[in-house]
Amino acid sequence: MLKGKSLLEPMDFTVDELESIFALADRIIASPADYMHKCEGKLLATLFYEPSTRTRFSFEAAMLRLGGQVIGFSEPNSSSVAKGESIADTTRTVACYCDIAVMRHPKEGAPRVAANSTSMPVINAGDGGHQHPTQTLTDLLTIRRKKGYIGDMTVGLCGDLKFGRTVHSLIKALSRYEGIKFVLISPDELKIPDYVRKGVLIKNNIPFVEVTDIKEALGGLDVLYMTRVQRERFFNEEDYIRLKDCYILDAEKMKLAKEDMMVLHPLPRVNEIAVEVDDDPRALYFEQAKNGMYVRMALIMSLLGIEG
Ligand code: CP
Repeated sequence: MLKGKSLLEPMDFTVDELESIFALADRIIASPADYMHKCEGKLLATLFYEPSTRTRFSFEAAMLRLGGQVIGFSEPNSSSVAKGESIADTTRTVACYCDIAVMRHPKEGAPRVAANSTSMPVINAGDGGHQHPTQTLTDLLTIRRKKGYIGDMTVGLCGDLKFGRTVHSLIKALSRYEGIKFVLISPDELKIPDYVRKGVLIKNNIPFVEVTDIKEALGGLDVLYMTRVQRERFFNEEDYIRLKDCYILDAEKMKLAKEDMMVLHPLPRVNEIAVEVDDDPRALYFEQAKNGMYVRMALIMSLLGIEG
């Protein structure tokens, strides 16, 4: 069903296709040894034009745990990108050697340019402030495993909603599930962009409110998705310094939340979640990071057309 497709944004897959990936991830988690030879003879390329820990490592770990192999770069200046090679030419060349590629790039749309230049599946591992669909797979799998299904919940998204690609992708993906309400918590300067507010929320009649005070919102949330204020997306250091610590979730604030509220964060975090919250059973962000590897195993298998 998904064989040969690329994943550039969450809407590229139907809800049923996503469900097939989550069900496969569940099977892999239950019995990883059954999957350790599934991708033998297959090669994954990791093309990272921007720093990453979780996304790159989890993709590499995913392919290696499936018995496949990985080549790539995490520093584009070590490749012919430094000589001015285009994204299209780099991708066409990589497709001569590899079966599937993962690309992170600071420019919005770069993975689409890559996908348009080849028949090899290309996975968007984050493009600028735009989309991060495999983080969304990670987020949805974590919610699904905790709650049993995806839907009927109030989701608070807090922090940098303007440049936060994980937030944009998650809102798009959740907009297709029943009973979702959003509470968008940000300073005025970092509010959700119009292409998400109008193009997704208003267009699809999804209930949402925009607030600035996290304490006001906490008691009504089933999921709190914290995000980092991203220094690398600001043009002005003064604005970053003024806004970077606008929300800090700590043990005191967690007292205001429901006993079963899920705290998610795509990570990396800086100050927005105090380390003391890590021991709270509602803090799921490291479990979420681990789920990222399993869901990427399921995604690689699905795009390569490998039964599981
Ligand atoms: N969540 C995420 O994309 O983390 P990295 O930037 O470390 O890959």
